[in-house]
Amino acid sequence: MLYIIDHPLIKIKLTEMRSENTSHKQFRTNLNEIASLMVYEILRDYKTKDLEVRTPLGINTVGKTFNHEIVIIPILRAGLGMVQGILDLVPQARVGHIGLYRDEQTFEPKEYFYKTPQEISKNDSDVLVVDPMLATGNSANDAISKLKIEGWKNIKLICLVGVDKGINKILFNHPDVNIYLASKDEKLNENNYISPGLGDAGDRIFGTKGK
Ligand code: URA
Repeated sequence: MLYIIDHPLIKIKLTEMRSENTSHKQFRTNLNEIASLMVYEILRDYKTKDLEVRTPLGINTVGKTFNHEIVIIPILRAGLGMVQGILDLVPQARVGHIGLYRDEQTFEPKEYFYKTPQEISKNDSDVLVVDPMLATGNSANDAISKLKIEGWKNIKLICLVGVDKGINKILFNHPDVNIYLASKDEKLNENNYISPGLGDAGDRIFGTKGK
């Protein structure tokens, strides 16, 4: 399923990010803030378990705590820009990494790094794959396929902006994976950039340009 997380604060922050005049500092801040706002909504269906605590009044009361592990998997490098925003709300989450780069000729993703936590149950954990731009969908598709081969089960894909091509690719190949976006954009341009989009997310997060 595709979910667009439609909130005025997300729209305002995303609009600032789209502007070519926004600095990398502001871009990075907004991306993390949007990641926090999105994960707040996405974890609405998170299954908690009871936890009893004693208050300063000496009274026991039953509240809630986390029931299973949450693993954030940023697709390098732009996915890194969403990690801190999620950790701000879920500080005990673990963070794995998948390194994929886009071949500039073929636009195909190439894997150069893979590391995920091994000491937790892959059946019970919630895996949040993060990458701001869902363009062709090739990177996210390959990352999710790799995670499944390695045994991970409950995978969600969290992106900032996506287009039909990438969305449909994931929904077709991974119907069990919910996709969460802040915005569905119009199209891909001839260089496979999202239009209107916000440019190269990695460059804008890290303040780099070109090769
Ligand atoms: N990756 C980006 O960083 N931007 C796009 O528009 C598409 C892919």
